[in-house]
Amino acid sequence: MTGKGILVFIAAVILAAATAAFGAVTFVYPSPNTWVERSNYLILKLNNPEVTGVRIAVNGISSDLLVVGSPEYRKMFQDILIVQPVWDHGRNDVTVESFIGKDRAESAQAQFYFAPRGEGASAPPEFKPYVFHMSDMEKRCSGCHNMEPSPAQLFSTLEKENPCVGCHRKMLNVKFVHGPAGTYSCVYCHTEKVAPRYAVTKREAALCNECHEDKAAEFRKRKYIHGPIAGGMCEVCHDPHGSNHYGQLKAPVNELCLSCHEAIKKTPHVVRTSTGEGHPVGGRKDPSALKSGREMSCISCHNPHASDVRYFFVNNAEDRMVLCQMCHNK
Ligand code: HEC
Ligand code: HEC
Ligand code: HEC
Ligand code: HEC
Ligand code: HEC
Ligand code: HEC
Ligand code: HEC
Ligand code: HEC
Repeated sequence: MTGKGILVFIAAVILAAATAAFGAVTFVYPSPNTWVERSNYLILKLNNPEVTGVRIAVNGISSDLLVVGSPEYRKMFQDILIVQPVWDHGRNDVTVESFIGKDRAESAQAQFYFAPRGEGASAPPEFKPYVFHMSDMEKRCSGCHNMEPSPAQLFSTLEKENPCVGCHRKMLNVKFVHGPAGTYSCVYCHTEKVAPRYAVTKREAALCNECHEDKAAEFRKRKYIHGPIAGGMCEVCHDPHGSNHYGQLKAPVNELCLSCHEAIKKTPHVVRTSTGEGHPVGGRKDPSALKSGREMSCISCHNPHASDVRYFFVNNAEDRMVLCQMCHNK
């Protein structure tokens, strides 16, 4: 998404703080000078109970005045304001102005870096990776959210008992949800008792193979193993929670393949047709029985993991001709 600074107003709050001294607005998420992989939320703590409105500008593009002064709002959300931002790729300069009635009360500024998942981009070193689950952060939320879940709650597969879904539901709003994420088994992979809390202590094949040992066994039997698989990498292609692409792929399959195999784009692949183009790799139906009506893509011909033949041809087609005949029956 490349939309600029669009803010969808979700919810806001004013806290009846006991003390009289009010700090400036706190950027809870993202916090200043961090980088994030998702354009999911901007979470602010307003700190001043008199504030009635907030205006947020992202890279110079300003939102409408967001009204946070109503009694209903304060009752529900106190001084927490959550909006759904659309970050620009890369650096985002965010300015938050708060208002009491028509008067501007204060203004706060911060910079974050947005390097979206699955695009292989990373942030410059002055931006630190964001971490939320530290006790000083969590205690700001414990008034309304369950931040000290019991073991039974942590392992509950019921949405209403699970202590993670209330804040993280959005990451499950995708077309293809990974099995254990869909059953809210978050703490199978996210260990509670580590620092930072809920970090994953195992990654990649070591994690995936705990449940997908059948896959690992299958890969081991193959004569040719694809580079990333041989290196135990699974998360370059698969999102452990889910995505809008089948197989929970982080991006459409051709984009994934071409992110490492750029050269394939530059020369006609497989054949050179009369118009000088290569073999179609998308944009029409895959006629083979294997892919049952999905669109042509790199995996119409190549197994993404491993195979008994060179180039990991699907169906272990021993040579080009056998491969071609899967779809071209003469
Ligand atoms: C005054 C009560 C209150 C406090 C304090 C509070 N929240 Fe919430 N929060 C809510 C309510 C109410 C909802 C909406 C109910 C729901 O969907 O579970 C919500 C929902 C959320 C959501 C999901 C938003 C969505 O619709 O996708 C996130 C994320 C969230 N809160 C984060 C936080 C964080 C982080 C903190 C601490 C900095 C915090 N909240 C503190 C009341 C609060
Ligand atoms: C009060 C809301 C809230 C609750 C409840 C909550 N989280 Fe989070 N969590 C956040 C926010 C906000 C972030 C930072 C934004 C993001 O990464 O989506 C975050 C980030 C994370 C991260 C990334 C690392 C980090 O610390 O920033 C993990 C992992 C995580 N949460 C796991 C969990 C698990 C597992 C549970 C349930 C046991 C849980 N969270 C409950 C709000 C919450
Ligand atoms: C199959 C294992 C697995 C399951 C199940 C799982 N996660 Fe994760 N999660 C991971 C891995 C691996 C990462 C990447 C860790 C990193 O980047 O540091 C991650 C990262 C995250 C992050 C931070 C980065 C991001 O993707 O935005 C959050 C938040 C998170 N998980 C929340 C959850 C919640 C909530 C659940 C349950 C609904 C859950 N996870 C279930 C493995 C899992
Ligand atoms: C806690 C057990 C568990 C762990 C750990 C786990 N998975 Fe899964 N995975 C499942 C379950 C359960 C399913 C759903 C099975 C089904 O639908 O056939 C699934 C399904 C999948 C699918 C889709 C299968 C299909 O046929 O569409 C993929 C891809 C996948 N997992 C990849 C991974 C990767 C990559 C990792 C490591 C980051 C991982 N899994 C870690 C349990 C796990
Ligand atoms: C180069 C990208 C890539 C990597 C790396 C990768 N996968 Fe896959 N994986 C795919 C694609 C593409 C599919 C979909 C295949 C299909 O639908 O025909 C898939 C499908 C799957 C499935 C569903 C069953 C199947 O074979 O169709 C599982 C399970 C799975 N992968 C597990 C893993 C595990 C475990 C790892 C790490 C050892 C891994 N993958 C690494 C691209 C990858
Ligand atoms: C993370 C990077 C990465 C991704 C993503 C990736 N590959 Fe690869 N691929 C490699 C590496 C590394 C090798 C082994 C080195 C080489 O021969 O180029 C390789 C080798 C290959 C080969 C064999 C080349 C030969 O000369 O024997 C084929 C075919 C291939 N990949 C196809 C694909 C397809 C199809 C996809 C998408 C499903 C894909 N790759 C995604 C890194 C990647
Ligand atoms: C119609 C079948 C077909 C499709 C679709 C296809 N390939 Fe290939 N690919 C082949 C064949 C056949 C070879 C063996 C070398 C040759 O004959 O040109 C090959 C070889 C390769 C190689 C290794 C040799 C080289 O040229 O570097 C890579 C890497 C590769 N393909 C990647 C891809 C990627 C990435 C895509 C998707 C954009 C893709 N292929 C789509 C059939 C296909
Ligand atoms: C997975 C299915 C599949 C495989 C395998 C496959 N093709 Fe194709 N091929 C197609 C489709 C689909 C088209 C497009 C047909 C159309 O547009 O009518 C096509 C078109 C072509 C064309 C015509 C290109 C044009 O646009 O004029 C040639 C030549 C061709 N394939 C050669 C091969 C060769 C050689 C192989 C084996 C190395 C091969 N194909 C393997 C599916 C496949």
